[in-house]
Amino acid sequence: MRLAVVFDTPYSGWGHPEHEAQMEREVAAWKVDEPEMEYQVAHALRERGHQVRLLGVGNDLQYLVRCLEEWAPDLVFNGAEAFRGNAALEYLLPGLLEAEGYRYTGAPPLALQLTRNKAISKKVLAYFGIQVPGFVSYRLHEKVQTEPDLKFPLFVKPLQADGSAGIAQASVVQDFASLAERVAFIQERFGQGVIAEEFVDGRELYVSVIGNDDALEILPIIEMVFDKRKTRPEERIATRFAKWDEAYRERKGIRNVIARPLSKAVRERIWETCRTAYRALWLRDYARLDLRLTPDGQIWVLEANANPFISYGHDMANAAAKAGMEYYDFIQRIVDAAIARYDRA
Ligand SMILES: Nc1ncnc2c1ncn2[C@@H]1O[C@H](COP(=O)(O)OP(=O)(O)OP(=O)(O)O)[C@@H](O)[C@H]1O
Ligand SMILES: [Mg+2]
Repeated sequence: MRLAVVFDTPYSGWGHPEHEAQMEREVAAWKVDEPEMEYQVAHALRERGHQVRLLGVGNDLQYLVRCLEEWAPDLVFNGAEAFRGNAALEYLLPGLLEAEGYRYTGAPPLALQLTRNKAISKKVLAYFGIQVPGFVSYRLHEKVQTEPDLKFPLFVKPLQADGSAGIAQASVVQDFASLAERVAFIQERFGQGVIAEEFVDGRELYVSVIGNDDALEILPIIEMVFDKRKTRPEERIATRFAKWDEAYRERKGIRNVIARPLSKAVRERIWETCRTAYRALWLRDYARLDLRLTPDGQIWVLEANANPFISYGHDMANAAAKAGMEYYDFIQRIVDAAIARYDRA
């Protein structure tokens, strides 16, 4: 197939040849430093025999329109995580693909916008009977004036960020004064609304899903585990450091592993919850759900990632590997899911 891999890039003047050269360098040095996700995807697609064009979008959406017209791909692999460096605008690229009539992988703009708003998506999930933490949300300039009718501790986070931006130990607040202070800090620092949720104490689970409708495959569940001797209970959250800082992870004994034993009954309830959530949020082809499982077996959905990170050696690719998919097969599975969806339509 002729494929285009579309992604956001800070290198505005770069066309296909520059990305091609950069990709070659990064793939050659894979053992030293992992290549950008879009290059990993393009490499995998080539290994699976496709003709691939790299389309990096800087500030100019028209550039994408022109390149696609020229390349005329059978399918676009959407690897865009932002537009002009703004993650909240990631929906624009699939929006454009939609407008221009291209077939593409992954979530539609609606699902990207819906899941990006952690308050609205929780309301939709609750409507479908999924347990989500009680919450209150504040607009950008809204002050915390009254004590919310929620049980402290609360967890305060940016309403529409991801990658654990703004998530630190200080996200957990024990009283009204610290709530007001943290909300104001996040508003100021991130220039966006804020959500404060009831804190759910439990195991941290990530569930990756591939496919659509009745052909949904739920991959082995990943758990972020914390060494109990090196962390206090309130430290057992996926902060920015806990996710991305290798030295910190080492120090605190934090690892992402295939979830330790989960009873069959719990696993089945998790699958059911994820199937319902996937459908409720209009997710497509692939996604990752972040959940917490409390000691008494209750499942709480924290959020859905409509456009999850799919680099080699990270959660979703590791889950796929556990399910028997080599990295190249995993990327091909996403393509297959998209094709099957369009063929059925
Ligand atoms: N209500 C909550 N109770 C307990 N822990 C929470 C809660 N909300 C968030 N957390 C912790 O903070 C982490 C990040 O939260 P969340 O997934 O909502 O943010 P994110 O920045 O979108 O993350 P991602 O990197 O997955 O995009 C969670 O994985 C969890 O460890
Ligand atoms: Mg998350």
